Amino acid sequence: MSDSSEHTQGIVRPAPESFIKPDLVATISAHGIDDARRGLLKGAFASALVAMTGKAVAGESDPNIVNVPEWSKILGNAVATNPYGLPSKYEANIIRRQSPGLTQTDQASVAFTPLQSMFGMITPSGLHFERHHQGWVDIDPSRHRFMINGLVKTPMVFTMEELMRMPSVSRMHFLECGANTALEWGNSAVPTVQYTHGMLSGSEWTGVPLSLLLERAGIDLAKAKYILAEGADGSSMTRTINIENALDDCLVAYGQNGEMIRPEQGYPLRLVVPGVQGVSWVKWLRRIEVGDQPYAAKDEASHYVDLMPDGMQRQYTAIQEAKSVITSPSGGQKLMKQGYYCVTGLAWSGRGVVKKVEVSTDGGRNWREARIEGPALSKMITRFNFDWVWRGEEALLQSRVTDSTGYVQPQRTELIAVRGTRSIYHNNAIQTWRVNQSGEVENVQLG
Ligand code: MTE
Repeated sequence: MSDSSEHTQGIVRPAPESFIKPDLVATISAHGIDDARRGLLKGAFASALVAMTGKAVAGESDPNIVNVPEWSKILGNAVATNPYGLPSKYEANIIRRQSPGLTQTDQASVAFTPLQSMFGMITPSGLHFERHHQGWVDIDPSRHRFMINGLVKTPMVFTMEELMRMPSVSRMHFLECGANTALEWGNSAVPTVQYTHGMLSGSEWTGVPLSLLLERAGIDLAKAKYILAEGADGSSMTRTINIENALDDCLVAYGQNGEMIRPEQGYPLRLVVPGVQGVSWVKWLRRIEVGDQPYAAKDEASHYVDLMPDGMQRQYTAIQEAKSVITSPSGGQKLMKQGYYCVTGLAWSGRGVVKKVEVSTDGGRNWREARIEGPALSKMITRFNFDWVWRGEEALLQSRVTDSTGYVQPQRTELIAVRGTRSIYHNNAIQTWRVNQSGEVENVQLG
């Protein structure tokens, strides 16, 4: 079985010999751990890593040099065999997935990003999660129009060509559905990080600042308090957004990761509302109305509200609070042997920058700081790594983020004490993965 097929089946192995350079021990010890602890950890990592590197130094032959494989003896495929490049066939398991039975139809549904298999901070466009209320549409850009009306001096209608000739910016931001991690409010712990946290993706978005378009239409700043954003799909998605957000960093975007936005993500135009829950990132954007009061649209009166323990509904919750999750090892994976593991995960905050991520291997009793693999950008996914030597003991893996406002991600029990368990949206609790003595990893809830 090849490395990649094991990877796709959720098996995590210690780094193969070929990945371990002799200088890695020094690299690990050089990363921000205080001196006394660094001494201890260096010893543990050194022996774990030397155990792995030792074999190669001892002269074990590379089988690919002794038995030359077929790919070293043939003429390869021609350029542009795939005019639009595709992943290797060995990565066929790395796909968006629907959670069986979660929704009654495939149109009002969700397909989750395979976070367990992602590297870095950018989600490939083809793996960006999908959440539609009435299916996705592929709109002819030459027939699409975008209108601004309401409290403006000159209501305006733009073609795509006109929009794309305006000054543009590119910004990296996460997009998280307010319902991400919804099933964890109760006891129904789902098996993998793809389903617990996979309504999260990170992209580079390109478009025109909304502030520029509103200025051009002559927004009445004395009266304007809110905007209403409206989509062109069958669900007529409409969302109220504060004027502060609208004039701050929102984009009317047509680009995603260097190319036109994919149809599933709102081609040819979507609203980007950094830090705010995904439902407000209206896709297939066709209109923005400027108003002086919230619109109480269908998608914000009965949906995307938080049922509090006293029975009241909390409405217009917008910002996605700081959250983090270990993506590997994570639920459904298996540690194949004892030794060094690079525990890796993602942290993000709708209020700014990720300042610190800590990892616990004992269910939150002790914490050590993880390495942030920069750049740590505002309102964007941030990657963290943590060196761990697994000796076959049971472990409870957790991560905890602190953002630039000083806010610390809560334990599940702390969140429930304030919010109860009847919410659907806005669950940013610390996630726990239990590693049992056989190396199997499962989703558990503590306390
Ligand atoms: N915009 C329109 N027009 N229609 C929709 O169904 N879904 C919303 C939002 N924008 C939606 C929409 C929801 S609930 C989320 S979480 C995000 O889009 C998901 O964006 P994605 O499918 O690009 O991940």
